[in-house]
Amino acid sequence: MSQQQVKYELLESQREKRLKYTSYLQITLLIVLCAASSFIVYMSWTIIYRNSFNYIKLFDVPTLWIHRTHLYSQYLSEYLTLEARGNLNFTTNNQDSALRDLTRHSLGVKELENERIFPSRYGNFIPSERSGKKKLVCYYTAPYDEDSSKNLLPRDIDPHLCTHINVGFANVVNNTLFLDDVLRKTFVEMTALKKINQQLKILIWTGGADTGGFADMVKDHTSRKHFIQSLKSVLETYRIDGIDLDWEFPGGFNRQRQHFSQLLHEIRREYQREHRTYLLTVAVAAPRPIVDVAYDVGEINNYADFINIMTYDYHFYAPSSPFTGINAPLFARENERGLMAMLNLNYSVNYWHEAGMDRDKIVIGLPTYGHSFRLVNPLNRRIGSPSTDFGSTGVLGFTSYSEVCWFQQNNIFVTTVFDNETCSPYTTAGTEWISYDDVQSLECKTKWAKESDFGGVMIYSLNTDDHGLHCRSYDGDNLVSEPQTFPLSRKIHTVLFSNISTMEN
Ligand SMILES: *[C@@H]1O[C@H](CO)[C@@H](O)[C@H](O)[C@H]1NC(C)=O
Ligand SMILES: *[C@@H]1O[C@H](CO)[C@@H](O)[C@H](O)[C@H]1NC(C)=O
Ligand SMILES: *[C@@H]1O[C@H](CO)[C@@H](O)[C@H](O)[C@H]1NC(C)=O
Ligand SMILES: *[C@@H]1O[C@H](CO)[C@@H](O)[C@H](O)[C@H]1NC(C)=O
Ligand SMILES: *[C@@H]1O[C@H](CO)[C@@H](O)[C@H](O)[C@H]1NC(C)=O
Repeated sequence: MSQQQVKYELLESQREKRLKYTSYLQITLLIVLCAASSFIVYMSWTIIYRNSFNYIKLFDVPTLWIHRTHLYSQYLSEYLTLEARGNLNFTTNNQDSALRDLTRHSLGVKELENERIFPSRYGNFIPSERSGKKKLVCYYTAPYDEDSSKNLLPRDIDPHLCTHINVGFANVVNNTLFLDDVLRKTFVEMTALKKINQQLKILIWTGGADTGGFADMVKDHTSRKHFIQSLKSVLETYRIDGIDLDWEFPGGFNRQRQHFSQLLHEIRREYQREHRTYLLTVAVAAPRPIVDVAYDVGEINNYADFINIMTYDYHFYAPSSPFTGINAPLFARENERGLMAMLNLNYSVNYWHEAGMDRDKIVIGLPTYGHSFRLVNPLNRRIGSPSTDFGSTGVLGFTSYSEVCWFQQNNIFVTTVFDNETCSPYTTAGTEWISYDDVQSLECKTKWAKESDFGGVMIYSLNTDDHGLHCRSYDGDNLVSEPQTFPLSRKIHTVLFSNISTMEN
């Protein structure tokens, strides 16, 4: 081998090494570039997502809602714990005793005594309203928001949309029904709606949590009497047609449940003594563990004109039950067992009926809001998938219909699924997952309520329906109509009051 040749080979191998080195460098650079650009896309997506989609907040969540979901998650977590330990036997024959065990654990209730109140000397209690006409009860929160663009004003409510509007929320302060300036103004403005629709009933919506002004008032006869006096004066002053009591919820302790029945009895007696046709209605819980403890159903049936069952908030994000779920499922899903199979409209409403509530006094609650969740894995997005937190949409997961529309219209890769079993849609993009109700689901639920011949439908609430025209009406992919205010409530109204019987088809 000549020296020349050796030199040449050495050079050659060095060149090869360099080439190899360069190609490694190129590949590495490419990978880094890819990673960096993915990261940049992800970060900008996240920033856009967090800032612009999060940006729209269209309503404030009432504290009573937060309180309610806390209570619900308490017994749910107790249920999950007992079930995991094998301390609950929820086979079909054993449901009642399993529920009693659950109630004893989660709500601290031992036994409920028989609390029937004796009929008074005023004789039978005749409800103010007993016509065959279906009721459409709408809840309406007075315009408290500091950002006035979010507020729904009385003059923007269609007077023909609902048969009853419950206006609130009025607190009980010092055993008196307390109306602040906003509420007073609102009630004055509501009379304008009644001038246009003379059949429309306006009720004052009051109540409270398990402690506080309302709970204190209910305790004894004197304070209840004081409250009823203030109620009479409010009803008269503002020409209000009645009262809706929303106590979330009477407990099985301190005789709260008995005192609540007593309050109903005393209000009814006062109406009758004065020959008034004011209404007395009650907003009640849907989940069976609460119903069993909180209410003497027979008593409520005696004294109330009707009840509004809050058949929603069955599933929402809570640290103790971190799974996606449907806010207001119509029926149980096939794989649901035990308590889970009881968390749906059909079960709750039939349970209230079997417990002694007259069919025509049962008004079924339908939500115009949903619940948002944050998924653990964006690809695992069925009902029951793991979630880590509330979604970014809405406040504490509570999402108005307008916010859902905003989410769907301003996001990319949005998937919307309609679940036939529960008759409810959910919509998802990235890690955001929202259970909500749309025109289709509410049509399905209202039809069911109408065919089952219950007293009517309640809407919670007008404020969370799309009153600000954020939604467009779609029929598949075609824009079918000009946007309309209250699309969900209007749909319910149409289905409930249309004369075309579904039986005839
Ligand atoms: C649950 O109850 C059923 C019916 O009473 C009974 O047959 C079954 O053995 C019970 N299971 C457990 C784990 O206790
Ligand atoms: C309730 O009573 C307290 C103490 O007597 C009083 O300070 C307060 O102003 C009262 N509130 C109302 C709304 O009347
Ligand atoms: C509705 O509830 C009733 C009574 O609980 C039950 O018999 C019926 O099977 C339920 N319907 C559906 C479709 O789940
Ligand atoms: C849901 O029901 C509709 C109408 O009955 C039907 O067209 C659709 O295929 C069903 N979807 C599923 C997933 O069962
Ligand atoms: C339904 O029938 C009632 C009385 O039968 C009638 O007054 C009402 O106008 C009808 N409504 C519609 C939408 O056809």
